Amino acid sequence: MGSGSGPLPAGLIVGKGQFALSRISREGGIPLRTRIPIGLLAIVAAACMASLTFAKASAEDNFKEKCTMCHGPDGKGFAALKTPDFTDPKWQASVTDQHIADVIKNGKKDTAMKGFGDKLSPDEIKALVKYIRSLNSEKKK
Ligand code: HEC
Repeated sequence: MGSGSGPLPAGLIVGKGQFALSRISREGGIPLRTRIPIGLLAIVAAACMASLTFAKASAEDNFKEKCTMCHGPDGKGFAALKTPDFTDPKWQASVTDQHIADVIKNGKKDTAMKGFGDKLSPDEIKALVKYIRSLNSEKKK
């Protein structure tokens, strides 16, 4: 982008696009040459969305499967177990992502919180950190 790129060239580009589009519709259909990239784009977009949904579901599933028995189904914790309330903005503010990831991986010494480094991949731990962050009640307002 040189100093020449101002509103005028942008307008020209839009104008050219409209011209191309109107020519396509006059010729009756999108030419094959442009149809292939569009198809590819749709596949890539669908794959990205699928993997995002999958990552979210799996963090939630991991939490349900491995953490709720001590942290509660909603992450609020149990007083009897001395587990923290993950929905509490004060608790959220008191820990860094790095600390949460570290505790999940290595556990907390001399507590019931054991490490999951041998059961969860680094990506799964990262997703769990995000999931725990999403429980913050302040974020749900
Ligand atoms: C056997 C019970 C148990 C299980 C299962 C368990 N935790 Fe914990 N967890 C604890 C306890 C107890 C604490 C509080 C430790 C303390 O005294 O600070 C804790 C604390 C934590 C903390 C906060 C650490 C801190 O310094 O504030 C995080 C984050 C955490 N657990 C995440 C998880 C995740 C994620 C899982 C599932 C993969 C999980 N825990 C499974 C018992 C458990």
